[in-house]
Amino acid sequence: MESIVLIGFMGAGKTTISKALAETLNAQVVDMDDVLVERIGQPISDYFEEHGETSFRKHETTLLKEALKEESIIATGGGVILQKENQQVLSDKLVVYLKADANILVKRIREDHVNVRPLAIKNDDGDLKRLFFSREKLYEKLAKVVIDTTEKKPVEIVSEIIQQVGS
Ligand code: S3P
Repeated sequence: MESIVLIGFMGAGKTTISKALAETLNAQVVDMDDVLVERIGQPISDYFEEHGETSFRKHETTLLKEALKEESIIATGGGVILQKENQQVLSDKLVVYLKADANILVKRIREDHVNVRPLAIKNDDGDLKRLFFSREKLYEKLAKVVIDTTEKKPVEIVSEIIQQVGS
């Protein structure tokens, strides 16, 4: 099985879908944010505060390359597409973009009190939407498959991914 890399903005459902997809395909899952939290030894928001986003992005790139060495379902962080190096690494991979409406994404980000994103602390709803629109083209460009997740249940999204990637 070729690795499947899930990309998309914060709140797109990458974590949820990666788990469900891995279960269905009986594959290993790597949730990059979870691994990074373990590595940096603190919540991502604290890390951003203490060490800055640039330093976080370096850890993220290192992990992305490592994760791609094994066959797995990879749930990336929403900003993984920002680094040129990551864009290159992902250019020939099976990248699936989980697309959702900007208003839904912002709502999910605000309602998630367990995973408080550093970029959601600093930015208001308008800023978050602008951030999404500024990244949207990159998600589309890197994706081999685009799945519109609007009003779909995880099980439907999983079967659509499997259908599209031909696993
Ligand atoms: C980020 C998204 C987060 C996390 C970090 C930065 C981003 O991951 O990696 O807070 O820049 O979009 P999720 O997309 O899983 O929330």
